[in-house]
Amino acid sequence: MPQPRSFRLGAAIPAAGILLLIYLFYIRSHIANPDVNISVREHFNDDEDPTVFEPPVASVRHSVIRGDNVAWTNDENATWYSISRHSNRGECWTYNDRFGAYQNLSPAMSAAISAAVSGNNNVNKSNRAVILRMGSNQQWGPQFTLHARALVLEAGYLAKYDVVILTHLDMDDGAKATWMQRVPEEFRPLVQTFSTKQVREWLPRAAKFKSIFDQNHLVIQMFMAQNPKYEFAYSVEADARLIGRWDVFLDDVDLEYAYHRKFKEPDQEMPAVPDLVTFESPRRPSDAWPWLEKDCVKHFRGMDNIRASLGVVWGWSRRMTDEMTRLNEIGVNCYYEYFAPSTAYRQNLTTFFYQHPLYCPHTKPSERNSMTKEQMGKNDPRGVQHEKVAVGCTYFFVNPHSQPFWEQWYRSPAACRPPALVHPVKGNFFN
Ligand SMILES: *[C@@H]1O[C@H](CO)[C@@H](O)[C@H](O)[C@H]1NC(C)=O
Ligand SMILES: *[C@@H]1O[C@H](CO)[C@@H](O)[C@H](O)[C@H]1NC(C)=O
Ligand SMILES: *[C@@H]1O[C@H](CO)[C@@H](O)[C@H](O)[C@H]1NC(C)=O
Ligand SMILES: *[C@@H]1O[C@H](CO)[C@@H](O)[C@H](O)[C@H]1NC(C)=O
Repeated sequence: MPQPRSFRLGAAIPAAGILLLIYLFYIRSHIANPDVNISVREHFNDDEDPTVFEPPVASVRHSVIRGDNVAWTNDENATWYSISRHSNRGECWTYNDRFGAYQNLSPAMSAAISAAVSGNNNVNKSNRAVILRMGSNQQWGPQFTLHARALVLEAGYLAKYDVVILTHLDMDDGAKATWMQRVPEEFRPLVQTFSTKQVREWLPRAAKFKSIFDQNHLVIQMFMAQNPKYEFAYSVEADARLIGRWDVFLDDVDLEYAYHRKFKEPDQEMPAVPDLVTFESPRRPSDAWPWLEKDCVKHFRGMDNIRASLGVVWGWSRRMTDEMTRLNEIGVNCYYEYFAPSTAYRQNLTTFFYQHPLYCPHTKPSERNSMTKEQMGKNDPRGVQHEKVAVGCTYFFVNPHSQPFWEQWYRSPAACRPPALVHPVKGNFFN
């Protein structure tokens, strides 16, 4: 269980002793009540000292999933069912719990955001990056800004990933400069841009280029090629959101992988860092799936070897991106959602699927995944809650469930949500 922590912001302050004192002080003053009492935390972030950043904490330190799978969310009019794995954390977040801490941007918080990538202050902070991916249509409205602050401070400042805002802009320098004005100042040092032309020029000659949309993996491959210090990177698309904290979530993924690795089967080779981390169960698409390409199916030697997964939040090792670039060099380049999973499957790289909680207004998931152990990659961890594997609802390619799940939460101050990775959240208001 993570405890609420406090940190003093500012350019690197190595005084561990001071941090410890602050930490102990806040532990003492804020965590007096045991978790078993369902109580609403009040005035948690009202400190006078603007240099203290208190990471957000759920006010309800409890979660309830009834026997019929109804999740307790305090929604007036809607019922949400947990349709896969139940949350592993006893907490329920109001919208204000989640984002309230990021409403007022103190100078120190702003400085911590701007410093969340190596190169600023000449510090080589991390060999792991989180890439927030967006395009020129990003509005940078107030709700998105809160989400981005949370992502940068939690993944960057607390979990020590480098955070890069990788933006696809096909425009001249003047238009680019105008676009940058939209980005709140604290984020600008994190923004890196690329154009379609740059990706085309980077791509090995033998491979066919379709579009950034179809072949989003190329953006990550190019990023990894140009930034040799990173061993691993997550890409997070702009319409993906998290209820609960990013540092806690990413840590849970690591812990669970480490657990599977410890108990791997003797013939499995699981590296310390998995090669492809995905949050939707990889599956074999149907023959009629419109994204399939003949050449690619042939390269992978038939549909039996094709694996697809939702690519809106993915983790990639350097081995993964190098292997894809190697395939590009021999002329193979396939649609985003199956290129990486099929490459990992064929090359015995390690795919790690992390089943997170999914919620739906009815008891059925959008799809069940029925892949057997034998159909998973040789090195994939196999014991991942097979009977609970479900696909869809609050993490899917369309938004009929994710959108109301998010919007009702925003509109109803009393409603709370257990931790959830949510996609997609659409519309200018939230973006
Ligand atoms: C829970 O906390 C409230 C408010 O502090 C208190 O009135 C109540 O007695 C507590 N309930 C239990 C079961 O401890
Ligand atoms: C719940 O439904 C009632 C009646 O339709 C409506 O007036 C109210 O605004 C709804 N509440 C929320 C939070 O949507
Ligand atoms: C950061 O790491 C890169 C790659 O390992 C290295 O080339 C560079 O000199 C390092 N910079 C500093 C300031 O340590
Ligand atoms: C992957 O593992 C299988 C089973 O051990 C083996 O037959 C196959 O040759 C391996 N493929 C590669 C590309 O290493």
